[in-house]
Amino acid sequence: MTHFHLKDGELHAENVPLARIAAEVGTPVYVYSRAAFEANATALRAGLAALDNVHLAYAIKANPNLAVVNILAKLGYGADVVSAGEMQRAIAGGMAPSGIVFSGVGKKIAELDAALEAGIGQFNLEIEEEGAVLSALALARGVKAPAVLRVNPDVDAGTHAKISTGKAENKFGVAINDAPAIYARLAALPGLDMRGVACHIGSQIADLAPLETSYARIGRLVADLRAAGHAVTHVDLGGGFGVAYRPGEVYPVSAEIGAMIARATAGWDVTLMFEPGRFIAGNAGLLLTEVIWVKPGVGHPWVIVDAAMNDLARPALYDAHHEFSAVRPTGTRMIAHIAGPVCESGDTFAKNREIDVVRRGDLGVFHTAGAYGATMASTYNSRALVPEVLVDGDRYAVVADRIAPSALIDAERVPEWL
Ligand code: LLP
Repeated sequence: MTHFHLKDGELHAENVPLARIAAEVGTPVYVYSRAAFEANATALRAGLAALDNVHLAYAIKANPNLAVVNILAKLGYGADVVSAGEMQRAIAGGMAPSGIVFSGVGKKIAELDAALEAGIGQFNLEIEEEGAVLSALALARGVKAPAVLRVNPDVDAGTHAKISTGKAENKFGVAINDAPAIYARLAALPGLDMRGVACHIGSQIADLAPLETSYARIGRLVADLRAAGHAVTHVDLGGGFGVAYRPGEVYPVSAEIGAMIARATAGWDVTLMFEPGRFIAGNAGLLLTEVIWVKPGVGHPWVIVDAAMNDLARPALYDAHHEFSAVRPTGTRMIAHIAGPVCESGDTFAKNREIDVVRRGDLGVFHTAGAYGATMASTYNSRALVPEVLVDGDRYAVVADRIAPSALIDAERVPEWL
């Protein structure tokens, strides 16, 4: 089911015509569907319903907009955060600190301390030294920090190299073979309540097999830790579940994900934690843009749109595919290259792509842009920071303003000694 669909020949977000949003808010603009976030979040929970104790921590990084966080908070999700800023957002968006998990390979001391102050639910430790620092900070506050050790299971997630995190050569976690000894030393620290382990092997994972392999390795580690006398009550299996970006692509649905997890974790007797990001947000948003020019090109024309790599960085960073379609398709198709106005050849969304015929002034969308879209936007080329809109049935709200270059210029100074 998609919440972006054609009605009377015009693309809508739920019941709101995208042309109306473009006219009233301007372009480029991200448009989200509340119902899509809710459907994805509810489906994942339903897929995991057979498991006894589950804590779902939405990976804020995928889409940290406060309204989005609030939707997930209302559905009982906690949050996976990787910075003090994300923690602030999670709390501001309505999440209970106790439901927040603090991941991240480089947490600064001030961030760890702020998280202790806020009383977050769990610290995912990335190196032994981090545990020692956290223990001391917790003792100084007279508390024990609930913590798990992130383990690198050395599994190839089969995803893009830049978003793969679970291979031995990646920077994340401690090597699984070193984990028992490190865990024993962390468990002895007076300021830590060591309660389990965590892993996350990558993002946009298409195939459940590598996930199952890594879960099996984690299962053996849990057994080893218990044999060594540790009480393991929590295992955080991370996120990574992929979504379809191209028409016809098939990705595991929540029932399949849930069945695999039930099989892989049978008998673990722990609270299972998950950190889904893209699975919740990916297809819940699109990037609405206007065609500035259609320019002759070698082989095919260039469709120059008013969105650019600073608004949606994924194609430039990962050669990611975002399907493009016209808001008012005529039924005819053309082959084109699609690019933004930024002064780099990398600012190209598609080459030799079959798309709806568009002309100057037409509106188009890049689909599946709800995750890792607006959150990775920048103001490169002194472009505005892209705004965000949330649709709910036949109403919508601007949930993030367009930040104009003038506001950024106001935050800069020319020193008086120049
Ligand atoms: N947990 C941890 C520790 C993570 O590092 C990540 C993502 C997640 C959870 C959420 O993963 P998800 O369920 O969304 O796959 N910017 C890239 C994706 C980077 C993902 C980084 N870590 C992209 O646009 O594809």
